[in-house]
Amino acid sequence: MADGSDKSWILMVTAQSPTNIAVIKYWGKRDETLILPINDSISVTLDPDHLCTTTTVAVSPKFEKDQMWLNGKEISLAGGRFQSCLREIRSRGTDYEDQEKGISIKKQDWEKLNVHIASFNNFPTAAGLASSAAGFACLVYSLAKLMNVKEDQGQLSAIARQAHLTLQGSGSACRSLYGGFVKWAMGNDPNGSDSIAIQLATEAHWDELVIIIAVVSSRQKETSSTSGMRESVETSPLLHHRAKEVVPKCIVQMEEAIRNRDFPSFAKLACVDSNQFHACCLDTSPPIFYMNDTSHKIISCVEKWNRAEGTPQVAYTFDAGPNAVLIAKNRQVATLLLQKLLFYFPPASETDLSRYKLLRLCFRVSFA
Ligand code: DP6
Repeated sequence: MADGSDKSWILMVTAQSPTNIAVIKYWGKRDETLILPINDSISVTLDPDHLCTTTTVAVSPKFEKDQMWLNGKEISLAGGRFQSCLREIRSRGTDYEDQEKGISIKKQDWEKLNVHIASFNNFPTAAGLASSAAGFACLVYSLAKLMNVKEDQGQLSAIARQAHLTLQGSGSACRSLYGGFVKWAMGNDPNGSDSIAIQLATEAHWDELVIIIAVVSSRQKETSSTSGMRESVETSPLLHHRAKEVVPKCIVQMEEAIRNRDFPSFAKLACVDSNQFHACCLDTSPPIFYMNDTSHKIISCVEKWNRAEGTPQVAYTFDAGPNAVLIAKNRQVATLLLQKLLFYFPPASETDLSRYKLLRLCFRVSFA
């Protein structure tokens, strides 16, 4: 880059980022521009082999403009959110030198180089499986690596949180920068400097848990999380009560349950929180329906089972969509759970894949 004579080089970085599933939900922003939430949230980062986004970013003097492809289709980068993400990272770029390949990029050169981004999800996009969380964390991480950004994970999580893509933006993305159990602290600073992701426990801390995703529908949701939570903030009194009075206590209890690997408390807190989040959606005017009949049947099935056993075996949680995330306390319970799902939600015929999708993505959380 220094003398500009050879324009044939391409510098490329590929990153994989897992998605995360909240067990204490983030729903509502106090600042839409800085993406500052109205409450803390806690999530579990999933095994990247099963639910992840792979993003390749590249710069070259040959590239004439910034461009991005999502699952092979070019998407518009016209939204200011993408540009703000790129601006943030370019401004943090440092000198890069590869003598073998004859590449020398100075700090100030990052501003002039155009970026190409190709991103793939191996799971349904925007179907309420936190696809945007994985996508955004991955984008921020790979751009930061490409541009030799020296900031630590905490600071990158602040960029992942703020940087919104028109199609893929996600505040919850900041939690995917860590494995294991992660808290996104809402923070107090009006500028958001302390609204960051913190790892509560590593991958290895609680590895008996098994997560099963029951894909009830892979259709794109009708109300995006961004607009849904905006409407809830504007119209739901329950949401404000939840953020102020309920979640702070649940966060403390959930942190303790994770620390002690206390499954009964963990399951109770996760199920209650999911139900309260969906109650806030119903309390929104007009109401937002993310779950469907199958989701409700899955809840009843798990509740009945837990009651019959006298202690929780399985926790359920639903994001902004009908798909169930089921967390079994160990492998034996997960096997039984799969049998029950097959029994109560059988494929209508051998060729009926829509029901069978319920069992399609099942895996152990290994946090690899
Ligand atoms: C229900 O992070 O997708 O999954 O910040 O507006 O893009 P924006 O929303 P997003 O919302 C996630 C909401 C949730 C709960 C959660 O993951 O905490």
